[in-house]
Amino acid sequence: MHIRDADCGDILQIARVHISSWQTTYTGIVPEDYLSNLNIKDRAQRWLTIFNAGKELYVDVAVTDAGEIVGFASSGPELSGMHPGMAELTSIYILQEYQGIGIGRQLFERAVSRLKARYSTMLVWALSQNPACDFYIRMGGVPDVETTCEIGGVTLPERSFLFPLE
Ligand SMILES: CC(C)(COP(=O)(O)OP(=O)(O)OC[C@H]1O[C@@H](n2cnc3c(N)ncnc32)[C@H](O)[C@@H]1OP(=O)(O)O)[C@@H](O)C(=O)NCCC(=O)NCCS
Repeated sequence: MHIRDADCGDILQIARVHISSWQTTYTGIVPEDYLSNLNIKDRAQRWLTIFNAGKELYVDVAVTDAGEIVGFASSGPELSGMHPGMAELTSIYILQEYQGIGIGRQLFERAVSRLKARYSTMLVWALSQNPACDFYIRMGGVPDVETTCEIGGVTLPERSFLFPLE
């Protein structure tokens, strides 16, 4: 297993991990029909748009020795623009069968080590019911605000975590 920068050739595999991880993580949280309608082609197109936008965005992938992408993380400047100068970990998703063996920590620490040269704080959003909230606390995150977001026509609580980047 190794971690490397992603490139455009990884988009389909990133989309596959993204959707699979959404489906295994958010079942029972996000409406089932929304999850079952997630589509690799659409998701890959969204990733292509993001890659082609040429904005500051870092995507790292975790790759098995056989060349399969089993996890990824993306990070860059804070997305909403409400916190200028702050960084954001915009996604981190690992296939269920590869969770709990240290890949999340490696992806997280790689993002942090890159961002800390330019930012002093990193923000992460997570659905409040997502067990990943405990991962963020384990990684040193400080719970910040709780608000709501809408996914699949349902309003869900989400919370943010702040990470000082030293
Ligand atoms: C959350 C996620 C990225 C964590 O990655 P991971 O590879 O499973 O985590 P790691 O094995 O690297 O664990 C790192 C540390 O966090 C802890 N940890 C990981 N998940 C945890 C959880 N759900 N609850 C409590 N602690 C957790 C581990 O025990 C480990 O602690 P240690 O290093 O002190 O032993 C991964 O489980 C995942 O992809 N989940 C589904 C998708 C998701 O929810 N993404 C976040 C969206 S906001």
